[in-house]
Amino acid sequence: MSQVATLFSKTKIDYSWSFSDKTRKDTAYITHGYHRYPAKFIPQIVSRLVEKYTNEGDLIVDPMCGSGTTIDVAKEIKRKVIGYDLNIVRPDVIKNDSRAIPLEENSVDFVFIDPPYSDNIKYSNDERCIGKISCEKIEFYDELEKTASEIARILKPDKVMGWVIADQWIKKKFTAVGFLMWQRLEKYFEPMDIVCITRHNQTSNTGVWHNRARQFNFYLRGFKYLFIMKKS
Ligand SMILES: C[S@@+](CC[C@H](N)C(=O)[O-])C[C@H]1O[C@@H](n2cnc3c(N)ncnc32)[C@H](O)[C@@H]1O
Repeated sequence: MSQVATLFSKTKIDYSWSFSDKTRKDTAYITHGYHRYPAKFIPQIVSRLVEKYTNEGDLIVDPMCGSGTTIDVAKEIKRKVIGYDLNIVRPDVIKNDSRAIPLEENSVDFVFIDPPYSDNIKYSNDERCIGKISCEKIEFYDELEKTASEIARILKPDKVMGWVIADQWIKKKFTAVGFLMWQRLEKYFEPMDIVCITRHNQTSNTGVWHNRARQFNFYLRGFKYLFIMKKS
């Protein structure tokens, strides 16, 4: 068997980014993490990343793990995992502010993070929640940058992190949150890839939203960025 064939026979990684389209009703949504959590992330995407960038026994960290999607995915594929958040909805999540992660430097194999994208969702009453700051303020990026620098500190050299973020269009004002965040992340990490995450059953593709878009003059678009970057 050629070297390439051996490599492919050993790996079961699926490199596609299209998943079964029942989204919130999908079993993966229900079994991974507390499914009613606001802005719960898509487990299959976390799983792709963890499978691709780590090996069995590696340590995965999610500094803002919310419902614990990353915890469930990592355990399922036999990785060690630590999930932090300020809003505790299950006992295996550790209460911690992402701007000061209680781990040694160069100790983690992969980080996944899906932070607040602005102040559009109320996660908790904790004053330290970055989701209380609008993405229209510089402070939002300053605070997330502190988290980025912590991720860079705890990651082992050459190890990878996945960072999810989305732009904002609210009250006739567009904010390029993705580009603004990327500029901050580039100070700490080397770019590897950007994936655009869209929903097959995008809820804006309905008559009501088409009418609103015409009336208020905005585009029907909706995607999130998944930044894949390496500790440089
Ligand atoms: C988009 S949600 C994460 C959802 C998660 N990926 C999931 O699948 O359930 C963002 C999370 O960031 C948390 N958060 C906001 N500011 C934080 C901070 N300073 N430290 C730790 N967590 C924070 C919120 O409590 C919220 O759970």
